[in-house]
Amino acid sequence: MAELDEKRVGDYFERLEDVTDWWTPEEGELRFHYEAELRVLEEQLAIDPAWRVLDVGTGRGRFGALFARHGCRVLGVDLNAGMCAEARETAKRLGVEDRFEVTRGSAEDLSGLPEAAFDVVLCMELFDHLPDLAKALEQMRGRLAPGGRFLFTYVPGESVYGLLGNAYRFARSRLAPGELMISRTYSLGEVRDRLAEQGLRLERYWGVGLLCANAQTRLLQGNPLLRALTAVARGEARRWPYYERPWLARHGAHVVGLARAPAA
Ligand SMILES: C[S@@+](CC[C@H](N)C(=O)[O-])C[C@H]1O[C@@H](n2cnc3c(N)ncnc32)[C@H](O)[C@@H]1O
Repeated sequence: MAELDEKRVGDYFERLEDVTDWWTPEEGELRFHYEAELRVLEEQLAIDPAWRVLDVGTGRGRFGALFARHGCRVLGVDLNAGMCAEARETAKRLGVEDRFEVTRGSAEDLSGLPEAAFDVVLCMELFDHLPDLAKALEQMRGRLAPGGRFLFTYVPGESVYGLLGNAYRFARSRLAPGELMISRTYSLGEVRDRLAEQGLRLERYWGVGLLCANAQTRLLQGNPLLRALTAVARGEARRWPYYERPWLARHGAHVVGLARAPAA
């Protein structure tokens, strides 16, 4: 699997316009898919209002807002100043700005935040964009309290979505060598190992969108085959918003995982 270029990817995510333009999970065609990720957390976690939550790569703040709506105190961090503004907007719109703060920062350097201060650390839809996952995991692990929960999503290389994305990236790297790649995939085994290196034990995982094959949606927008695939995936999401059985779960277009730090 090709590695991401640390400097170029970092510069890309810091630029204002790009990320806010394409990351619109609550509006796009695949809205149903992203809603399912929120549903996993709503249904599978008994969210305790006393939890202190750190949402790394908060984006538009949809996950931070979910926990804040349950009464938790949340700190959102994002590299992109535009996204930080969007997350603050989300908090205001939902009336939770008193307990959902947002600050600019990088997953790879959270040294400005107190150690072991959070009961929950979220890293949603971010693994795939991190040039140095190990470094980011070490930083996030450092902020987690003993027994704390680490929640994340990643795109499995073993899913249809991941396979198509990798085929696309491979083709691009041949057709346009040197073009910036901002995402990659992981296998469940890799994720489990990386977590274990930080003393985090993968406890549960759920898969969203087994049939969601819409990698590079933008590229093929308007294509009849893609429209048909989206309709199939929408039907799937209505019937099976997410999968719990291990084989099905690990082949979802996104895997939502829960890992725990050891109790003190
Ligand atoms: C795909 S979006 C996911 C946003 C949010 N977690 C969600 O699921 O809706 C990734 C977000 O991570 C941010 N990001 C990218 N690299 C980052 C880094 N190294 N540290 C912190 N945030 C980063 C981006 O600016 C973007 O807002």
